[in-house]
Amino acid sequence: MSDAKKPWGGRFEKSPSAFLEQYGASLMVDRRMWAQDIKGSIAHARMLAKQGIITSADADEIESGLNDVFRSISEGEFEFRIADEDIHMAIERTLTDKIGTAGGRLHTARSRNDQVALDTRMYCKDAAVDLIGHVNELRSALLHVAQEHHGVVMPGYTHMQKAQPVLFGHHLLAYYWMLTRDVTRLRHAYEAADVLPLGSAALAGTTFDIDRQFVADTLGFDAVGPNSMDSVSDRDFLLDLTYACTVGMVHLSRLCEELILWSTEEFGFITMDDSFSTGSSIMPQKKNPDFAELTRGKTGRVVGDLTGLLVMLKGLPLAYNKDMQEDKEGAFDAIDTFADGLRAMEGMISTMYVNTETMLAGAQGGFMAATDLADYLVGTGMPFRQAHEVVGRLVLKLEREGRTLQDMSTQEFLDTDPAFQADAIDSVDIYGVVARRVSVGGTGNDAVLDQLLVARDALAVDATWTEAHRD
Ligand code: ARG
Repeated sequence: MSDAKKPWGGRFEKSPSAFLEQYGASLMVDRRMWAQDIKGSIAHARMLAKQGIITSADADEIESGLNDVFRSISEGEFEFRIADEDIHMAIERTLTDKIGTAGGRLHTARSRNDQVALDTRMYCKDAAVDLIGHVNELRSALLHVAQEHHGVVMPGYTHMQKAQPVLFGHHLLAYYWMLTRDVTRLRHAYEAADVLPLGSAALAGTTFDIDRQFVADTLGFDAVGPNSMDSVSDRDFLLDLTYACTVGMVHLSRLCEELILWSTEEFGFITMDDSFSTGSSIMPQKKNPDFAELTRGKTGRVVGDLTGLLVMLKGLPLAYNKDMQEDKEGAFDAIDTFADGLRAMEGMISTMYVNTETMLAGAQGGFMAATDLADYLVGTGMPFRQAHEVVGRLVLKLEREGRTLQDMSTQEFLDTDPAFQADAIDSVDIYGVVARRVSVGGTGNDAVLDQLLVARDALAVDATWTEAHRD
C-alpha cells in the first residue's frame, strides 16, 4: 500500500496497492506535456482572478509558484514520483507543497478531464508545427536533388518492369508531392486540435462564472468547445494527427524501398553515403542501407499506433473514461517515429551519390521507346492498334536477336514496314522520348522545370505558415 495522500483521499479508507498505483499511473507517458500543463494552469488562474473567483494575490502566488516548477523541470531538477499518478497532479502537488493554501485553489472550476484534454491539444498543436518543419526540410532536400539532376534520364517502371523513360527529377518530385499532402494533413490535425476544452470541467460545465474566451485568447486557441461532454471525450484531433503520421510513414516507406532497390548491385542507381550505411560483422564487402530499412520497418509500428487508438476509442460511452489515458503513448510514439524517419530520410537524400550513367544505361536498354515508335506510325495515318501490332512484332524479333530499338539502323526501319520513313530512327532516341512528354505534369524537360517552379512556391507558402505558428 502506498502512503502518498491522494487528492480524492477524503472519500476513501484504503489506498490502492503499490502495484495498482503503478498500473494506474500515466506519469511516465504524460510528463512530456509538463510545459503545456503549466501554461494552461497559469491561464486558468489568471481567468479565475479576473472573474473574482480567487483573489489576485492567490493568482500571483500560483503563477510565481508555477514558474518555479517550470524552471525546476526545465533544469532537470524536478523529481517525478509515480505516486502522483500523472503530470497534472505531480505539478499541482509540487505547487501546493511550495505555496500552501493558494495552490489548493488552482483546481477550482476545473477537472483533470478538461485539463488533460487541454494539455494534449496544446501538445498536438506544437507537434504538428514541428512535424511540418521536418517535412519541409525533406521537401527542400528533394527539391534540391531534383533540381541538380533534373535532366538525368532513368527508367520508369510499372509492375516493376521497365515502362517508359522518365527524368530523375520527375521521379523525386513525385515524393515531394506526397509530402506536400502530408503537410495538408498535419495542418488539418493542427486545426482539429485548436479548440479549447478547458471550462468543461468533469463533463457538465461548472457553476462558477468562468470566462472561457479569455482562456482561449490567452492560450492562442481559435475557438471554444461548444459542448462540455464532447470536449472532455473528443480525441479526433489525436486520431487526425496519428493518421497524418501514419500516411507520412507509409510515404517514407515507399521511398525507402526505392532507395534500397536503387542501391543494390543489380540497379546501382545510387550509392548511399557511408554515414547512412552500415557494414556486416562477417562479410567484409557489405554496405547495407540500414536506415532506409529501419524506417521502412518502423512504419509497421506507426500503423499499429493508429490502430490501437481507433480500437481504444471504439464503443466508448460519454464522457471521460479511464480507457482514454491509453490515448497518448501510441500517438506520441507515432509523432516521434515520424519525426525521426523524416530526419533520417532528409539525411539520406541530401548525401546520396547519384550514378547518372547507370540510370541512363538502364533507360537505353530494353524497349522503352516502343510507345513512341507506335505513336510515330500513328502520325503517318496508321490506326493505333495496327501500329501497336507492328512495333510488337519488331520487339519480339529484336528480343530474339538480343538487340534493342537503339541498335536499329535507318535501313532496318525502312525494311520493317512501308510506313516508316528515314526519320523513324529519331523517335527511339531516349532523350527525345522524354522531352516530348510536355503534357502538364508529364516528365518532359520543360514540364519538369515548370513543376519545379510550382513546387518551390508551394514550399515557400508552407514555410511561412510554419514560422507563423511556431510557439
Ligand atoms: N491521466 C489521466 C489521463 O491521461 C488524466 C485524467 C484523469 N481523470 C480522471 N478522472 N481519472 O487521461
